[in-house]
Amino acid sequence: MTVCNIAVLKGDGIGPEIVTECQKVLEKVCEQENVTINWEEAHIGGEAIDCFGSPYPEETLQICQAADAVLLGAVGGYKWETLPGEQRPEKGLLALRSSLNLYANLRPALVYKPLKAASPLRSDILGDRLDILVVRELTGGIYFGPRGKRVNAQGIEEAYDTEIYNKEEIRRIAKVAMQAALGRSGKIISVDKDNVLESSRLWRQTVKEEAEKVSGITVQNMYVDNAAMQLVRNPGQFDVLLTSNMFGDILSDLASMLTGSIGMLPSASLGEPGKPGVFEPIHGSAPDIAGKGIANPLATILSGAMLLRYTYQLEGAAKRIEKAVETVLENGYRTADLAEAGCNKIVGTVEMGNLVCAQLDA
Ligand code: IPM
Ligand code: MG
Repeated sequence: MTVCNIAVLKGDGIGPEIVTECQKVLEKVCEQENVTINWEEAHIGGEAIDCFGSPYPEETLQICQAADAVLLGAVGGYKWETLPGEQRPEKGLLALRSSLNLYANLRPALVYKPLKAASPLRSDILGDRLDILVVRELTGGIYFGPRGKRVNAQGIEEAYDTEIYNKEEIRRIAKVAMQAALGRSGKIISVDKDNVLESSRLWRQTVKEEAEKVSGITVQNMYVDNAAMQLVRNPGQFDVLLTSNMFGDILSDLASMLTGSIGMLPSASLGEPGKPGVFEPIHGSAPDIAGKGIANPLATILSGAMLLRYTYQLEGAAKRIEKAVETVLENGYRTADLAEAGCNKIVGTVEMGNLVCAQLDA
């Protein structure tokens, strides 16, 4: 019998509620696969600041490093918003990504047919089947470059952040995008701001060099501002969307909304093969609805499917979870964020988790 060692970082806000539902679903599907899960809980974000004085305590790092994979909820909340940057909950998440060298962030934006009406885009623009994979660089760029505050020569306070990418960082994320594209249409749209930023010019050049080494890949370059516009104008033209850290952060939120709700998008953050990845919904901790039992757990549940796929190659189990989610949606059940006007099957977080579990049993 296979034993999976999974670190669980529930984090803040709705984190504990949505992760619990994902754990239930993973337990259910693993039982069917004759796989046992060992859960090891650890702290991150605001709750870790409260307990340990750090958003990413040493103990959490050790637990994550020793695990096969990390299942994460979300971090952040009103309580910690006024802390200095270095001590904020979000810093814990960035430190986690960086410490595990998770440079490749995969964010599939898939429009489930039953949710077409939940998308703010007109159905003819959305098309029949929207399936975009955002491949976001996750450990470089402006998120990690030098930053600071100072007083300038005129005595005015100023602050700066720096976008830095080296060729190696660009090369390795381009390779991930190409690998993914080979299993899809082979078409990559690489996002940059090459008309303005030096780092983008290196990005574009390096992606081109890498793509020339691989047959079956076509790369189209697109400025980030245009990409935002095109995602809304004609999302069907996108398949693999390759981005830097910050551009991917922004565009993946945009892409998520095409699917009906940001509460639908899972993610996998991966580093070197064989090392633990982090699996988390792309949305945040939603402190405004925390504890109300109404958060959508599906992005986290779908992240659980990605965990099984990328960590254990349990493709069949991953697909079964995805199918169960789709069927529950087909049967008309919606969390509040997805509900169309007149929907009479609005369910809470726990009920949605139960429905997915029941579907796995069906
Ligand atoms: C995300 C989030 C994070 C990011 C925040 C919470 C630091 O927005 O995963 O998209 O900016 O990467
Ligand atoms: Mg984000």
